[in-house]
Amino acid sequence: MLLHAGHAVLAFAGVGLSQSSHRGNERVDLSWHPPKQTKLNNLTAVVDGDGVYGFIYNSSDTPDDVYGVYNWCNMPHIRKREYVKAPNEYELVFVEVIHRHHKRTPYSSNAFPVESYQWDCDDQGVYYHGEPFNGPKKATPAYWKGYASEVNPFVPSGWIGTCSFPQITSDGMTASWQHGEDLYAVYHDLLHFLPDRHNPAWRRKVAYRVTRNTITSQVAGMLIHGMWRTTERVPLLIQPDAVDSLEPRYPCPAARDTSSRLTNRGANPAWAAHLDAAKPLYAELDAASGVPAGDAGFHASLDHYYDNLSARQCHQKPLPCSEPKHAGDSADAGGCVTQDLADRVYRFGHWEYSHMYRGSRETLAASAASYGVWIAELAAHLRGAMAPEGDGNGGVVYFHNIAHDGSMSRLLSVLQLDEMVWPGMGSEVLFELLRKRGGGGGHFVRVLFGGRVLTSSNPSLGVMDMLPVETLLAYFDGLVGEGAALVVGKCNGSVAL
Ligand SMILES: *[C@@H]1O[C@H](CO)[C@@H](O)[C@H](O)[C@H]1NC(C)=O
Ligand SMILES: *[C@@H]1O[C@H](CO)[C@@H](O)[C@H](O)[C@H]1NC(C)=O
Ligand SMILES: *[C@@H]1O[C@H](CO)[C@@H](O)[C@H](O)[C@H]1NC(C)=O
Ligand SMILES: *[C@@H]1O[C@H](CO)[C@@H](O)[C@H](O)[C@H]1NC(C)=O
Repeated sequence: MLLHAGHAVLAFAGVGLSQSSHRGNERVDLSWHPPKQTKLNNLTAVVDGDGVYGFIYNSSDTPDDVYGVYNWCNMPHIRKREYVKAPNEYELVFVEVIHRHHKRTPYSSNAFPVESYQWDCDDQGVYYHGEPFNGPKKATPAYWKGYASEVNPFVPSGWIGTCSFPQITSDGMTASWQHGEDLYAVYHDLLHFLPDRHNPAWRRKVAYRVTRNTITSQVAGMLIHGMWRTTERVPLLIQPDAVDSLEPRYPCPAARDTSSRLTNRGANPAWAAHLDAAKPLYAELDAASGVPAGDAGFHASLDHYYDNLSARQCHQKPLPCSEPKHAGDSADAGGCVTQDLADRVYRFGHWEYSHMYRGSRETLAASAASYGVWIAELAAHLRGAMAPEGDGNGGVVYFHNIAHDGSMSRLLSVLQLDEMVWPGMGSEVLFELLRKRGGGGGHFVRVLFGGRVLTSSNPSLGVMDMLPVETLLAYFDGLVGEGAALVVGKCNGSVAL
């Protein structure tokens, strides 16, 4: 059935009322639609292919002439150079940005049992000091400096070095700063939407939000300086750990159970097939890394190996070779991880993300529940920005979230991205709310992923360029309820996912 609504022709492909949402006389399709069939989500192509689709894994710098290409180390974001302005008759009203933190060391849980080299972070500091706002007593910027005690006989597993594992690296901090600079260049220099740096009014118009994982704050400090060049304090909004919607952290057992079924060999034949197809790859990786074949974390998915290898390559560190376990073993007994091996890991990684976040109806159901609160918060911001006096958000016109791959993946899952990838470092999604100049013409949303208009497999969303805001809000409300009204029930199992 095709219905006309506003500027869009909306296809309703649902199978019952629960699959559609009404808004005025328009119907929005709430059902899951499969992503495009490409090499990324085709297991045969993953196994038999070579290379990684032209994606970049070994540098944060993407040459200008190919900017926009996937770069795991530093994903594309909007820049003045490539930014496509909305037609002149529209003006920007509100912007919400969400992006993954920039590049970091690996997590300690993703280190090989014995790492062949140290990873030090002596060229940077991460600051954890506090300071009272009132009174003359100030704090000195005190930072953590990792060190290994010569007396302490306990040796941590995995990485040795002066970094915290994880921490944003110096290069990742530079990328964070540049990301801020680029956003300011678009929204101030090009569009005159944000105030000038020298105009203190910017402090009332922008808000930054982070998660309890300190790497997001490490990014924020650099990014805000890239935007505003201030060394004065700026608040970072943060929700209580146990209920944070940005990471997300709030309890959602129904979504968790659904996601674990999807990645359980016994419960999901497709997952089992991919693990079987990865067996020869695992054998080579285990031999080179020293990871025991029985290590469940490393063998439940390619995630650990992916993180482990890509973090090295993004920082121009060599791929690892096996370490001798006994005196007399030859150093290369288990061989080295070759580029070809790493590329296979990366191809499997994209297949896994496509499968976990876009592969079935359950992926949408789980993401709508586990990311529903953030979605509802975004919807509330959009509504606030359209309030008659335009100050429904307390004057904030630019809301900036710094998050994780789990946040980005769930959001892209809800938006039903047509070609899912594993969102790399700095990966960005932007929601721009625009209205016809002169008023009376309604509000529209443009959604950009990696600096380009996002294409959804859901026909109600489609190419998300100047989508009537009512369509997007009806879609969000239908999945998560206005004010996240459906989320508690979906999470605790009293409302079907
Ligand atoms: C998957 O890839 C294989 C090998 O490249 C190809 O023969 C097959 O047609 C593809 N399957 C789909 C559904 O596209
Ligand atoms: C990164 O890899 C590509 C393709 O494998 C290669 O052409 C390029 O020289 C490498 N760049 C760096 C900085 O190592
Ligand atoms: C590296 O990979 C190993 C084996 O897969 C894993 O045990 C370890 O936690 C990984 N380390 C990092 C830092 O990713
Ligand atoms: C689940 O959530 C619903 C909706 O908020 C609530 O009414 C119900 O009491 C909850 N059930 C349980 C078992 O917590």
